[in-house]
Amino acid sequence: MDLELAGKSVIVTGGASNIGRAITLGFAREGARITIAELDSAQAEKVAQEALKLGAKDVQVIKTDVTNMDQVKAMVDAAASRFGGIDALVNNVGWDDLKFFMQTTPDFWQKIIQINFVGMLNCTYNVLEHMIKAGNGGSIVSISSDASRQGEPREAVYGAMKAGVNSFMKTIAKENGRHGIRCNAVCPGVTIPEEEEEVSSNSMWSNRTAMFSEEQFAAIAKSLPLRKLGRPKDLANAVVFLSSRAAGHITGQVLSVSGGYSMIG
Ligand SMILES: NC(=O)c1ccc[n+]([C@@H]2O[C@H](COP(=O)([O-])OP(=O)(O)OC[C@H]3O[C@@H](n4cnc5c(N)ncnc54)[C@H](O)[C@@H]3O)[C@@H](O)[C@H]2O)c1
Repeated sequence: MDLELAGKSVIVTGGASNIGRAITLGFAREGARITIAELDSAQAEKVAQEALKLGAKDVQVIKTDVTNMDQVKAMVDAAASRFGGIDALVNNVGWDDLKFFMQTTPDFWQKIIQINFVGMLNCTYNVLEHMIKAGNGGSIVSISSDASRQGEPREAVYGAMKAGVNSFMKTIAKENGRHGIRCNAVCPGVTIPEEEEEVSSNSMWSNRTAMFSEEQFAAIAKSLPLRKLGRPKDLANAVVFLSSRAAGHITGQVLSVSGGYSMIG
């Protein structure tokens, strides 16, 4: 299947670590021109070198805090100017620290809201401006979470923000379909890096046993219909497909890539 992504201009936020890294490398294999928008620019530069070796036509790293509207606007303008427009955006940045709701504080809620929701709004707004003006259509994929669909203990505010992501993507899919712009969400379940060096300094997985003990990882895997945890490339395959012409009639969808953890319908 020709995904027709060669030479396309793609932005991946948080594209240096775990799932975002695999998405960057997935687009690289298709010969895309990639902008990695990241807080950890040192790790992003390493991933950029890997992407070039795998076949990316060009890669630029732009140090960006997606929660800062001015930085996002500058990053999006730079992507459009270097690569002649923007064909696809992947809103991949996300963050959580697993705590029961009654152990959290309003400052913690604000951090979760900013990183998981406002960052996605900032990037989507600026990219839509370019896509609508250019008139060539495009794709926006936001990385959500199965916590948005299931109600996960210790992920109350995070799950609520990711449910907001799902709803937002459906609305902008309806608003922008007439411009040929497709908007979808992808929900990972627990998705762990293959190697320690696949994660950035800010990664939720830089200390993976702070998230779950090894016994808990094994129990989660056993509970899933496919009996295995997710790997970053599982998510990258779905995201690259949804961003491509091969998914040209798919919009407003929320796709779980989680070994069967949630089944909606
Ligand atoms: N890994 C999982 O088990 C899992 C499960 C469900 C959903 N998700 C979602 O998948 C996405 C990727 O998860 P991951 O495990 O690869 O995360 P990760 O923590 O390994 O990587 C996130 C990357 O985002 C960057 N980042 C964080 N805040 C940023 C900001 N404000 N501006 C720019 N960059 C920023 C970090 O530097 C890091 O490189 C997230 O949206 C996450 O919520 C992950």
